[in-house]
Amino acid sequence: MKILVVGSGGREHALCWKLSQNPKVEQIFCAPGNGGTAQVGENIAVKDDDIPALVKLAKELEVALVVAGPEVPLVLGLQNALQQEGIPCFGPNAYAANLEGSKAFSKNVMHDAGVPTAPFRVFDEFEDAVAFVKEKGTPIVVKADGLAAGKGVVVAMSEEEAIESLEDMMVKKVFGTAGERVVVEEALKGEEASFLAFCDGINYALLPSCQDHKAVGEGDTGPNTGGMGAYSPAPILPKEKYAETAELCIKPILKHLAAKGEPFKGVLYAGLMYTENGPSVLEYNVRFGDPECQPLLMRLETDLLEIMFACIDGKLNDIEVKCTEQTACGVVIAAEGYPASYPKGMEITGLEDADAMEGVKVFQAGTKPEGDKIVTSGGRVLCVTALGDGLAAAQKKAYEAVAKVHFDKSYFRKDIADKGLKRL
Ligand code: AMP
Ligand code: GLY
Repeated sequence: MKILVVGSGGREHALCWKLSQNPKVEQIFCAPGNGGTAQVGENIAVKDDDIPALVKLAKELEVALVVAGPEVPLVLGLQNALQQEGIPCFGPNAYAANLEGSKAFSKNVMHDAGVPTAPFRVFDEFEDAVAFVKEKGTPIVVKADGLAAGKGVVVAMSEEEAIESLEDMMVKKVFGTAGERVVVEEALKGEEASFLAFCDGINYALLPSCQDHKAVGEGDTGPNTGGMGAYSPAPILPKEKYAETAELCIKPILKHLAAKGEPFKGVLYAGLMYTENGPSVLEYNVRFGDPECQPLLMRLETDLLEIMFACIDGKLNDIEVKCTEQTACGVVIAAEGYPASYPKGMEITGLEDADAMEGVKVFQAGTKPEGDKIVTSGGRVLCVTALGDGLAAAQKKAYEAVAKVHFDKSYFRKDIADKGLKRL
């Protein structure tokens, strides 16, 4: 069987790596891929947002499955376009993908489905949004409705900051049409955790809890990034709470979308905040998180290909999704300067040494092959992921592996998983 994986991050390297473990998989293609996916399969230079080109490619390659890594192709209708050609796609259709593609849609679904979330209002007019901010006071959260590459959320501490963000989004249109509509919502306080589930439209199979580290600096300081490291399980969401948490934030969404005739198939990712009043959903993603995917797939024992087809075929209840009891910890090594500008083209050494360690896998993100070398080509370069008996052991092994990998101007946070350790 041939498979096409869409995307180019550490998540996609992890997806290719895991899918390649099924003996039925003859060949994996990745569009556009990175240095890591090139080692597992073949990269093809088609962008992840070019839906017609991706569909053409899937047909030409005669793949039996397309796996969408990031949200953009899903929001743009990759699943729908492939379905028309009779090609199975892992990931939701465009309607369901709006859970991530439109914050207003997502908040309205949460409200209608009875999912706990911060009180909010949706605005299309700048003046109305400003009046609401003045009425509510600060802190307050301003969110661009559409996809803004992770930059569309501002937790404003002052009225000026909130109004400036509204002006950027709605008047200056710094995110284009994505910011013409905004969600303004109450600011919540608490620790965040990620909770992901495989979904087949009706049934779901839970993955263990995990926690990302979005801020670039130690102690959660500095600007937000795509994620500087993740570990699983997260002590803030222990196993005993999985079932009730899913009743709160997974089941009602599936029920709501199924009733609309738009069942959600794929990975549903709930971004939770643990407030004084319990968990509240900050956002949904319609895909694996990056870097959450890397530790989660390190722990996954059930065959990923089998799970994906069970989701597509509505047969998730026929299989059991199992994960090792071991803990996984992934540390992102970035290029200095990320998430602002950073240098590229540095040679990476020590990858084999780190990969040779037992229970360690280096997932590549912003890398590309250059001759027989691997060089950096992005901000988040690697996610060095390790399994261990307990969080302290997984963290220790991950940092031992990090020490074996080198490139000029590399940077990583030294406190990935410390937050979890404090809770144990
Ligand atoms: P989102 O894309 O909605 O998850 O927002 C990105 C980040 O903004 C979250 O991971 C939180 O750290 C923060 N955030 C979003 N909504 C809120 C909120 N209502 N209160 C406080 N922080 C928030
Ligand atoms: N790590 C957060 C995300 O993938 O959205």
